[in-house]
Amino acid sequence: MKKVKIEKALTFIEPGPLLLLTTFDGQKNNVMPLSWAMPLDFDGRFALCTGPWNYSFGALRKQKECVLCVPGPALLKTAVKLGMESGEDTDKFKKFSLRTLPASQVKAPLLADCAACVECRVERFWQAYGIFVLKALQAWENPSCADGRMVHAVGDGTFRADGEKFNLRRLMKAKLPPGL
Ligand SMILES: Cc1cc2nc3c(=O)[nH]c(=O)nc-3n(C[C@H](O)[C@H](O)[C@H](O)COP(=O)(O)O)c2cc1C
Repeated sequence: MKKVKIEKALTFIEPGPLLLLTTFDGQKNNVMPLSWAMPLDFDGRFALCTGPWNYSFGALRKQKECVLCVPGPALLKTAVKLGMESGEDTDKFKKFSLRTLPASQVKAPLLADCAACVECRVERFWQAYGIFVLKALQAWENPSCADGRMVHAVGDGTFRADGEKFNLRRLMKAKLPPGL
């Protein structure tokens, strides 16, 4: 993983990929798949949605930090299996042989085999909807996941992986965020 400028964090989350959310609850690390996430602005703010039925929720509330990791297609099956277990009673890193790396600004780990990771701090929590507002602190990119393909959850147990890429940068030049 190499550190990249914070502006790039948006480009990892904007495409709406299935994410792996890592947390640290004060004693142990945990990880869960998460597809309900979106960017909120050009300043590295994101929203994600979860609730108290997940062990990760308590860690987010208590520690107010996490890492959003972007798995490629090779990790998809593992990602889904991670959503069938709870960190409450299972060390998912051990069970699924996940390789981690230390983050630079939060205690939750980076996932070494993901295409990108974004370290975040929780800025706000909107209880009525289980919405956490996150601020990106550090973005990372994995040069060995060269094709940068992401996977997307459809919501019915099927998934899509990125295919064709279209470059319309010239057309939307006036609306592109600064620094990208
Ligand atoms: C593909 C996939 C996407 C998911 N997306 C979300 C999500 O966006 N929000 C959520 O609260 N749970 C989501 N889940 C469910 C949690 O990942 C699951 O309940 C997990 O076991 C929670 O782990 P934990 O108890 O260790 O935190 C998803 C599960 C899968 C398989």
